[in-house]
Amino acid sequence: MLIIDGKKVSLDLKNELKASVESCQAITGKLPGLTVIIVGHDPASQVYVRNKAKTCKEIGMISTVIEMAADTTEKHLIDTIHELNNDPAVHGILVQQPLPKQIDEFAVTLAIDPSKDVDGFHPENLGRLVMGHLDKCFVSCTPYGILELLGRYNIETRGKHCVVVGRSNIVGKPMANLMLQKLDATNCTVTICHSATKNIPFYTQQADILIAAIGKAGFITADMVKPGAVVIDVGINRIEDASTKSGYRLVGDVDFDAVSAVASAMTPVPGGVGPMTIAMLLKNTLQSFQRINGL
Ligand code: GUN
Repeated sequence: MLIIDGKKVSLDLKNELKASVESCQAITGKLPGLTVIIVGHDPASQVYVRNKAKTCKEIGMISTVIEMAADTTEKHLIDTIHELNNDPAVHGILVQQPLPKQIDEFAVTLAIDPSKDVDGFHPENLGRLVMGHLDKCFVSCTPYGILELLGRYNIETRGKHCVVVGRSNIVGKPMANLMLQKLDATNCTVTICHSATKNIPFYTQQADILIAAIGKAGFITADMVKPGAVVIDVGINRIEDASTKSGYRLVGDVDFDAVSAVASAMTPVPGGVGPMTIAMLLKNTLQSFQRINGL
């Protein structure tokens, strides 16, 4: 069984991005800039934002984090986004989700200039993805990272049956639409399963490529997987574990030990899809810089 090593691929990718940032600076005298807005004090969001800022600096980009109080109004947040839309030093804008309940996440997504929407959440970017205009859009970072892993591991996808479990706007929907496109690492027959699907195992057992993005620890068991399938685990679930210092550990949506006896290739958790997400965010930011500067 092949372990698809997202940690290693993300390191390779970050080295490639660092070299590209250096050559962009040599040509233009400028650096790509990513601004992340975080509203409130959600501990998981704070960790994600810190990691994004740290990795951004590691590859030589300019990272700015704007911290806003938990009681920030939607208007104040949107006014700030409009300023960033007009700031030529900002090439990528990301508003960390979830947002406090007084703020409408969709209104915030709509306020971001699609040409700086490095999360790929704006309907213009998602619409371009659905219609196959990938050269002019941003693909949301987790699905884009999975595509990169499939490509770098030369996983055969053309004409294969890809089953995506989960229909979120961040992962499931863009992932399924990406696998449907006529590209090298896609071109699949695609099925989407979700919470109202009757008999999920009936579908997952037919998957050549199974992508689990449910958010439930160990949801995909060995009996749900076709022998030889490629299994991609998007889940990051905390489960209690008294034997660790923190009292918990991270597991995916796939029962890794049991499924590894059936699958031909799998992403681990941690060290699979997770590290790719930030790398793709920076790739999108570099792409935004290159487009804005006509490179
Ligand atoms: N919260 C969890 N994942 C993400 C992400 O990819 N982007 C944003 N903006 N918020 C998130």
